Amino acid sequence: MTIDLEATGLSVRYGGNVAVDGVDLAVPTGRMVGMVGANGAGKSTLINALAGWSRGTPVVRGTVRLGGASMDGLSPHRRAAQGLVLVPEGKGIFSELTVMENLALVRPPADTTGRHLFSMEEIHELFPRLAERRHHKGGMLSGGERQMVAVSRALRAAPRVLLLDEPSAGLAPRLVYELLETMRKLVDRGLSLLLVEQNVRATLELVDELYLLERGKVVARGPAAAMKNDPRILEAYLGSLTA
Ligand SMILES: Nc1ncnc2c1ncn2[C@@H]1O[C@H](COP(=O)(O)OP(=O)(O)OP(=O)(O)O)[C@@H](O)[C@H]1O
Ligand SMILES: [Mg+2]
Repeated sequence: MTIDLEATGLSVRYGGNVAVDGVDLAVPTGRMVGMVGANGAGKSTLINALAGWSRGTPVVRGTVRLGGASMDGLSPHRRAAQGLVLVPEGKGIFSELTVMENLALVRPPADTTGRHLFSMEEIHELFPRLAERRHHKGGMLSGGERQMVAVSRALRAAPRVLLLDEPSAGLAPRLVYELLETMRKLVDRGLSLLLVEQNVRATLELVDELYLLERGKVVARGPAAAMKNDPRILEAYLGSLTA
């Protein structure tokens, strides 16, 4: 098993407040890894740090490797150019541009060795709704459709590893499963994916491995099947631990 994305001792500190505290994580090639935790646990701070991005000016320590190559000190732009592509929390697409125009803003890289290049045909097949809406402006789309555009844009950048921060935020439960099932399809085609999610139940159905983050630290990790029975997950997220 090869590791596409690896973080070692990753820490993000805002003054005296340690938002991410010595996190080790690995996303193996062609696997889907989930990251869950309470509000404020540090999930966004962590996934942003992997992408080389942060809110404010924290002190960031530790190592991030993409396919064995160090990403340390590289800008988010440089990391994305090498295939480490983030869809941040709260998406952000252009409301005055149509779906097609939003997607056309991304130029696939010239060298796609080891990368997954998604054609427009493939994207329309994954998100038929976007094909129907291709001439609609971003501002007219539903939350779910906007999320599809944000993910599609990331796919057009030919990711090696895709980082998704709460893609299901604000979506109806039925759409959450639909979106996450589509993400699973991408992984089954060979993409490596790290997914931050609030919907633990849906996440456990689809990921290969799950990490639980508490106050910036990884307090539990393991295969999804095992994590389903972890008391910390049962108690706090599945609400099915009987006294
Ligand atoms: N710019 C900043 N300055 C100071 N502290 C910050 C900054 N950004 C984040 N933090 C702190 O980092 C901690 C983790 O926040 P983060 O947004 O990563 O949590 P999260 O797990 O993504 O939460 P949510 O589930 O609500 O999205 C919080 O205590 C937050 O206050
Ligand atoms: Mg967050």
